[in-house]
Amino acid sequence: MSAFISFPDDFIWGAATSSYQIEGAWNEDGKGESIWDRYTHTPGNIIDGSTGDVACDHYHRWPQDVAMMKALGLQAYRFSIAWPRILPDGRGRVNPAGLDFYSRLVDGLLEANIKPVVTLYHWDLPQALQDTGGWPERSTAEAFAEYADVVSRRLGDRVKTWITHNEMWCASVLSYELGEHAPGWRDTAAAVRAAHHLLLSHGLAVPILRANSPDSEVGVTLNFEIMEPASASDADRQATRTIDGTYNRWFVSALYGRHYPADIVAHYEPHLPNGWDFVQPGDFDVIAAPIDFLGVNYYTRRIVRDEAAPDNLPQTHFPDLPKCDMHTGVWEPVYWEIYPDGLYQLLNRLHFEYQPGKIYVTENGTSFADGPDGSGHVPDARRRLYLRDHLSACRRAMDNGVPLAGYFAWSLMDNFEWAKGYQQRFGIVWVDYDTQQRTPKESALWYRDAIAHHGFALD
Ligand code: FCB
Repeated sequence: MSAFISFPDDFIWGAATSSYQIEGAWNEDGKGESIWDRYTHTPGNIIDGSTGDVACDHYHRWPQDVAMMKALGLQAYRFSIAWPRILPDGRGRVNPAGLDFYSRLVDGLLEANIKPVVTLYHWDLPQALQDTGGWPERSTAEAFAEYADVVSRRLGDRVKTWITHNEMWCASVLSYELGEHAPGWRDTAAAVRAAHHLLLSHGLAVPILRANSPDSEVGVTLNFEIMEPASASDADRQATRTIDGTYNRWFVSALYGRHYPADIVAHYEPHLPNGWDFVQPGDFDVIAAPIDFLGVNYYTRRIVRDEAAPDNLPQTHFPDLPKCDMHTGVWEPVYWEIYPDGLYQLLNRLHFEYQPGKIYVTENGTSFADGPDGSGHVPDARRRLYLRDHLSACRRAMDNGVPLAGYFAWSLMDNFEWAKGYQQRFGIVWVDYDTQQRTPKESALWYRDAIAHHGFALD
């Protein structure tokens, strides 16, 4: 008999999406333009030239999507709100139709007995705010606080789990320094400023959410990767430490009251012509507002090589891990390794170093293009095993005392994967983009059974 991996009865089993990736209806019912609308409408930015104009058409099909979630037995649904649906100009004028849409969705979820978990910012900044400088400007953080106020006044009676931001590294470094995401800048100083203002905006929003949404829990979601030096050379180890700092430590350190890590402050300094003038007295106290949980997004491990180092050692032999279809870098892909033990290591590390009161895995999943087999089934054994092995890693971390309270599969359904367009399929539900038909994949059916049994057999 195979081992059964069981989870506590109150462990939350969910799935996640984000507004721009699924909603479509990019200019309907008074919605303003977002930086992702502008970015995808500009030729050359997206690998297959696609846009989120229609995406999964969730804006019109949400009732069926909620019914599908219910059929899968999901207990929670993490989705994000499109800021420009609520405030088309970023600040000021509120669009009631935008608020109504999310209010209906929340009611629909609650009727289906699914807990709404709301992310306020999953990257679709109103273009109007980018036009006044975007996240590198402090005014954008103030605008975010106003937006959080408008949304939580309307939904705060029914939404009891709030996530201010999704993956601040992506919203700053990937967007303003590496140029891979909207608005596509390549400016390190702008990225560091953006990172600071994202953190600040989070801290400004926390007390607002608490005031407008009594008895709710408030947190933030960050992305983490396991970083390993490609060899034991000093150069590779230093490169690993630096990227671990910019990627893994920068945000969590500030959020948990430790300012920015000194080594990374020194690393960024030469790139900041005006120094740290954008950091104002008191900012770090605002940023470190106590939160109820840390949202953790985990996908893969990264092997770090300092390509420029003259004295580098030959690369260490790492056992060959399977890889998925997703890659880092748009034009020169490094495929993502499947490394479940990394999630175990990561959860332990975060628990040990920062002691979050509670953790949710707010995203975890994999991209394989497996499609329908002709008989109405979508066999995706590799994704089923990915979920099984990562959930097992979660369970092992919980056995070590990590306060993990829930898991959200990324993603509920195939969707618009940012710069990689529709070629990447992360869904546990297959989407036929011609007909918009949804078909739960084998992994979704496995997940449904795991939810029903509070666990699964390891066979
Ligand atoms: C994360 C994003 C999510 C999706 C997955 C694959 O970085 O939060 O929107 O793109 O990666």
